[in-house]
Amino acid sequence: MSALAAVKKGIEKLIDRYGRDIYYLRMSLTERCNLKCIYCRSESEYCKAKTELTADQYSTILNGLVSLGIRKVRVTGGEPLVRKDLERIISDIASHEEIREICMTTNGIGLSERLPELKQAGLQRLNISMDTLDPDLYRKMTRGGDLAAVLKGIEMAQSLEMPVKINAVVVRGKNDQEAERLISLAKESAIDIRFIELMPMGVLGEDKNARVRNEEILRRHPELRPLPPAYPSQPSMDYTADGFKGKVGFISPVSHKFCNVCNRVRLTSDGKLRMCLANNYETDLMPHLQSGEELLQVMQAAMFNKPECHTFEEAFHTSRTMNQIGG
Ligand code: GTP
Ligand code: 5AD
Repeated sequence: MSALAAVKKGIEKLIDRYGRDIYYLRMSLTERCNLKCIYCRSESEYCKAKTELTADQYSTILNGLVSLGIRKVRVTGGEPLVRKDLERIISDIASHEEIREICMTTNGIGLSERLPELKQAGLQRLNISMDTLDPDLYRKMTRGGDLAAVLKGIEMAQSLEMPVKINAVVVRGKNDQEAERLISLAKESAIDIRFIELMPMGVLGEDKNARVRNEEILRRHPELRPLPPAYPSQPSMDYTADGFKGKVGFISPVSHKFCNVCNRVRLTSDGKLRMCLANNYETDLMPHLQSGEELLQVMQAAMFNKPECHTFEEAFHTSRTMNQIGG
């Protein structure tokens, strides 16, 4: 069967030219964010709301992507909670019975109020960015964020029995001393904490001195024992220790490459398919939204030709900041 015939029929899997099963969509709903984390974007940077896809446009693209083998969707941003129609978008995703996992990466501000409805709409799992447990430091690192609001969101998730992972980007001289307190979260409750090495993207990313290697944190915690990955393309290396309720993970995008099993495709909020976080090549879907068949062909070609691996080690300069890609 030709590739297009398979698409028309609705294929089970899209295997790219390097043999990878591309089933994980990171769908960015907006570039806008109510925070300005010091490593993500500069204080003066402006975010475009005008170019955001509508819920209907997301739905059109998602229909095609599901028929191309997408089975896991993570909504990202910017901050997905700034979209007033987030509940509608989640329920559109959930209307596809082929989709096995619906998750969201969020900063958690304003989450507690909306979480019951989001869960009802079909949201299953949350990854919450929280770089410190110190309210003053949190305000500084996010340029104005309220830690109490994030903690309220985490409590609500726990009361609704929604699994939570915390993402903490570690920046030397800012929050590198916070690791111990964050690790104790995983000891005391069923929350996973993942430390993310600063990637060479965004304002601080170029500054090698700001990056704290994950081994540094690990060395201070000999009690941590490695665990096998929960799924093959998992970005984090997970650990546990006696008496811990949650896991401690380390995401080292530069040193720990998982490109050979990478299963992701990213959709930006202005309608581009980006096949790799650290490769500026993108496919614009906007000119093809009116024709289902053409849209499928374009998306299938983009996915089949996903780059072999990221280029973080080379002098990579991203065409978009992290809030414009969604991590
Ligand atoms: P799970 O489904 O819970 O495993 O989530 P996830 O780790 O895929 O998603 P999340 O949005 O929490 O991302 C965590 C970190 O991993 C972020 O810093 C992302 O930028 C980074 N990350 C996600 N995808 C990739 C990728 O394809 N390559 C690299 N190098 N890093 C990635
Ligand atoms: N390096 C590493 N992680 C980053 N994130 C945002 N910018 C960077 C960066 N330069 C993280 C966010 C969020 C995740 C999707 O990406 O904190 O948790």
